[in-house]
Amino acid sequence: MTSVTRCVFGDLPGGGAVETFCLQSDFVKAEIISFGCIITRLETKDRDGNFSDIVLGFDDLKGYINKHPYFGAVVGRVANRIAKGKFTVDGQNYLLPINNGPNSLHGGLKGFDKVLWTPEVLENGVRFSYTSADGEEGYPGELRVWVTYTLSGSELSVHYKAQTSVTTPINVTNHSYFNLAGQGAENIYDHEISIDAEHYLPVDDTMIPTGEVATVQGTCFDLRKPVNLGNQMGKLQINGYDHNFCLSVTQKPQHCARVYHKPSGRVLSVCTTQPGVQFYTANFLDGSLKGKGGAVYPKHSALCLETQAWPDAVNKPQFPNTLLHPGEEYNQTTLFNFSLQ
Ligand code: BGC
Repeated sequence: MTSVTRCVFGDLPGGGAVETFCLQSDFVKAEIISFGCIITRLETKDRDGNFSDIVLGFDDLKGYINKHPYFGAVVGRVANRIAKGKFTVDGQNYLLPINNGPNSLHGGLKGFDKVLWTPEVLENGVRFSYTSADGEEGYPGELRVWVTYTLSGSELSVHYKAQTSVTTPINVTNHSYFNLAGQGAENIYDHEISIDAEHYLPVDDTMIPTGEVATVQGTCFDLRKPVNLGNQMGKLQINGYDHNFCLSVTQKPQHCARVYHKPSGRVLSVCTTQPGVQFYTANFLDGSLKGKGGAVYPKHSALCLETQAWPDAVNKPQFPNTLLHPGEEYNQTTLFNFSLQ
């Protein structure tokens, strides 16, 4: 049984009430707000039955309105990067706001994470809808989007649906930052991870995929067997992980990643229909944000598993398609399952 309750979270400066939707089962309590479809709290049990909040975030709306690294939010219209903020569809050139080095990141200056969505309470969850106007943040076509969160026992499901009036690239994901020790814990070095991917996408120095689909074999990207993140990240030549792992495209959600935190016994398993997952170890957190309960969030204090289309796919015809045409429907599902070991 899942209970769903709603209450006021805060008021937007320009007007508009933001509500919290609290989804609760015997195993999981999730709080999701109508601003950015943000998961603001996610409590799960440890092996002694004690609940802890395992996602990073803020205590109040102000934190989410201010610039922040997309804590818990739904990002779009196109998650991750589009090189130089440029692409061409049907012979027409489009220019997006540049907000990350020379590139456009996570939908632009006011992406899906910064807008108020319209909620609808469901029996076991909440559905949010939003209409992104033609030309919003430089993207073509009016796009209608629905994000549905449902909780069933120990599984939180996120379903994304969209329809467009003009052909547009689309790539929507959720950007939760997990720390299975409980948010506010210093790092994720005591977490173990596995990702079921044989290939990953190497990136250039502006974080745009080079176009190569590289084998993980013999590299630090081979996470097919569980590795301890402390050991593994100590070996890296890089700042941490911030890479797309390539998955096989499926109609039904397929298992793609598992995270295990031995001290608490918490396990997070992720299944998805999406063709990729961005594994990001919060390399750009620097302890400067004031998080929930006064927590500070240093570098590597969380990890993200952003199930998604491959970055910059709109400029790389060899990557799985991200164009949505009028008359088609975009449908993607990601399942976050919480268990104990
Ligand atoms: C990107 C990172 C970025 C983070 C927060 C991730 O999806 O891959 O490079 O820093 O989001 O914006």
